[in-house]
Amino acid sequence: MLKNIAIFASGAGSNFKNIKTSIDNGNINGTIVLLISNNPNCGAVIFARRYKINCEIINDYRYKNVKEKDTQYKLVLDSYKTDLILLAGFMKKIPLNLINDYKNKIINIHPSLLPKYGGSGYYGIKIHQSVIKNNETETGVTIHFVTENYDEGPVIMQRKIIVRIDDTPEILSKRVLQIEHKVYQLVVKAFCSNKITVNKNKVIINE
Ligand code: GRF
Repeated sequence: MLKNIAIFASGAGSNFKNIKTSIDNGNINGTIVLLISNNPNCGAVIFARRYKINCEIINDYRYKNVKEKDTQYKLVLDSYKTDLILLAGFMKKIPLNLINDYKNKIINIHPSLLPKYGGSGYYGIKIHQSVIKNNETETGVTIHFVTENYDEGPVIMQRKIIVRIDDTPEILSKRVLQIEHKVYQLVVKAFCSNKITVNKNKVIINE
């Protein structure tokens, strides 16, 4: 059975586009049923509209009441019979009701070697600025299940890269993003082929 995938994105959406390409190439046993975004003008939404992917905008303007907003996520996701939620540059906190109802079915990608440079305040270029400022010799990508604390859920996969002497935050962010695109599709492929299991917060990827 194809897995129904919902993407959550707020920005350019390069990870979203990359997952779609991988699906279109037949690499992933899934289909993107929905994009949820808080930002109606972001690259991810423009891309979804261009490719006729269902798009739902959920933000404070449309839903003044927090409870109503949190319920809307669940209503929409359930209506598409969502099997997997992929966070791909989503800048809003995932409500607790969703984290509980979709336990071990929400995956996030983060451009650092968590737990380093994770948590509130560490996003976008700020991560790479800190990595360079602190003279780190390596950085990378972490893909993990989402739990109620930012960037703290069970790690599914990490990939390291060496920080080069001539890296700027901008160059580093591009190099890390290239790795993100490679690794995210591997994880999504494994999930959609039922190869990922979680036991006492430890993730096992079966061959
Ligand atoms: C990526 O670096 C991802 O790791 C982080 O947000 C960024 C999103 O980039 N969570 P894009 O919108 O997928 O290009």
